[in-house]
Amino acid sequence: EKNPKIININLLNKFPKEIIDIFNIIEKVSKHRNEKAYLVGGIVRDLILNIKNLDIDIVIEGDAIAFAKELNVFLNIKKIITHEKFKTAIIFLETGLNIDLASSRLEYYEYPTSLPTVSYSSIDKDLYRRDFTINAMALEIDYNNFGKLIDYYNGYYDLINKKIKILHNLSFIEDPTRIIRAIRFASRYNFDIESDTEKFLIQAVNDGFLNKISFDRLKNEIIKILKDKNPHKALNLFEKFNIFEKFNLNIIITPSTYNIFKKVLENKDEIIKNNVKPWQILLITLFRRLNSEDLKTIFHRFGFKNKFIRKISIGINERKIIVEKLKTANKNSKIYFLLNNIPLEIIYLIKYSYPEIENKINLYLNQLQNIVPIINGKILLKNGYTESKKIKNIIKHALELQLDNENYTIKEILKELHEKHI
Ligand code: CTP
Repeated sequence: EKNPKIININLLNKFPKEIIDIFNIIEKVSKHRNEKAYLVGGIVRDLILNIKNLDIDIVIEGDAIAFAKELNVFLNIKKIITHEKFKTAIIFLETGLNIDLASSRLEYYEYPTSLPTVSYSSIDKDLYRRDFTINAMALEIDYNNFGKLIDYYNGYYDLINKKIKILHNLSFIEDPTRIIRAIRFASRYNFDIESDTEKFLIQAVNDGFLNKISFDRLKNEIIKILKDKNPHKALNLFEKFNIFEKFNLNIIITPSTYNIFKKVLENKDEIIKNNVKPWQILLITLFRRLNSEDLKTIFHRFGFKNKFIRKISIGINERKIIVEKLKTANKNSKIYFLLNNIPLEIIYLIKYSYPEIENKINLYLNQLQNIVPIINGKILLKNGYTESKKIKNIIKHALELQLDNENYTIKEILKELHEKHI
């Protein structure tokens, strides 16, 4: 076995006090149980990169469940979830932080159900079964060693040299989700995929391994990519490796895909202010060419509600017609009634796909959508109208007058309705 490379980078002072306190307790329990505890994975990587990450992943050389139960005595725990077969535990603290504990092990599995029992191993083997060198570093939670990076596989070197590199040739075959993860990390940190790793990635893609990824894991990775600051490079790599072609879906990345992505990312704050999630617009952008059947299936599996899916689907199908009508719409009310039943996600998609009507969409987003009707059924009844099916239509006429005549009062609207025999 190789010796670990230990780099002293005094990481301790980079954590907030709340987490240092937790480490202190973990250390105490570790000494008491005579089982070593390590901080591993993404949090170690991001610590070195100086990126905030509070996903505390701990590997125990021993029984993680018994360890977690002992921690229970010292921490303010809301609940613990354990998984006997996997020898894992998640501790949910009162403060809202979670701690993931796992027993160090050899195997990497995707599906919990089809598994033999997990066998314990040492930390070096636990790290070896992981996806990339940059994710395979550990810090021992021990004051004599804390801050010393345990790095068997040159993760630190690859991190500094901005490389995504697998630990062994079968990595992508063992877990094809890593194909997407390689793209995700390359994109997020603007790293390159190391050349041998890229060779194995392409081979795994060509051999059809993408289809072995469970939809849930694919979904989670895609959402994480779309939530990242700059998913541009991911689009590039999806294209380069023909990822979407392999899924038998009509997803084509075109120059306009890049364009829409760029605009959504530039306008994130404004989009969020309108209560829209930017990543959802990006997802719809990717899937905008799917037929409505595929669209319904996919969005359903992405966890969207049926009512929302129906609206999205209609919006996507009709967006070209809406755009044509918007081009000639010369009144506020026309713009309003074209857009007010369309989900905002689609309105943003339209806005960023067709710059020639951007002004009209801005008018809707910044002004028209917020207009509160000043005439309602009650007011109409008070003013001589009788309850009937027509009332809904009259209210719509009233709103139309209000939209097109900014300063109209209730009185003026009623007068005009009257003049028009409405
Ligand atoms: N891991 C792996 N193979 C996978 C998924 C995860 O080897 N397919 C390992 C990696 O060591 C990774 C750790 O499990 O660092 C945690 O996985 P996850 O939480 O999905 O990713 P993070 O690296 O924490 O990245 P992020 O910050 O985006 O969550």
